[in-house]
Amino acid sequence: MTTIGIIGAGEVGSQIARAALASGYRVVIANSREPETLAGLIAELGPAAHAASAADAAAAGDFAVVAVPLKVVNDMPVDELAGKIVLDTNNYMVWRDGHIAVVDSGEKTIHELRQEQLPTSKVAKAFTHIQAPRLLTAARPPG
Ligand SMILES: NC(=O)c1ccc[n+]([C@@H]2O[C@H](COP(=O)([O-])OP(=O)(O)OC[C@H]3O[C@@H](n4cnc5c(N)ncnc54)[C@H](OP(=O)(O)O)[C@@H]3O)[C@@H](O)[C@H]2O)c1
Repeated sequence: MTTIGIIGAGEVGSQIARAALASGYRVVIANSREPETLAGLIAELGPAAHAASAADAAAAGDFAVVAVPLKVVNDMPVDELAGKIVLDTNNYMVWRDGHIAVVDSGEKTIHELRQEQLPTSKVAKAFTHIQAPRLLTAARPPG
């Protein structure tokens, strides 16, 4: 069974966890705090879900989802994500993240910056265009 390491347990991370579990995946999910702070979510998600630190979630995943706003100072577990596909849900929101000059100028995308922060991973932009609740309610089976 495939395990997804989900870093970020907010609106997007928790919805991806719900959708992944509904499709038969295991998830290991993290926020920026102690795993115990996710006890309520884990109780809701059930036995195929576990809480961990971001590094441990990254290490546990066959691939990973990063549902965390990008910060200029890298706060992702680079070593534990090495060699893995990382789906990055981030959108650039100036009101939340502040201005990033190279993004404002069009020189780089926010996902190129994430790739630079995770040089040993393969970063792909994903789920950026869909409101978090719809990740579950709009999901359809293959075909
Ligand atoms: N909400 C949407 O509908 C939507 C849709 C598409 C894309 N997006 C984008 O997806 C990203 C996540 O959005 P969101 O709405 O899910 O945000 P959110 O509800 O604010 O959740 C952010 C999560 O990231 C965690 N986090 C922050 N820094 C971390 C770190 N260093 N290590 C581990 N976890 C960390 C937070 O943990 P704490 O609670 O401990 O701080 C929180 O669980 C954003 O870039 C957003 O623009 C959002």
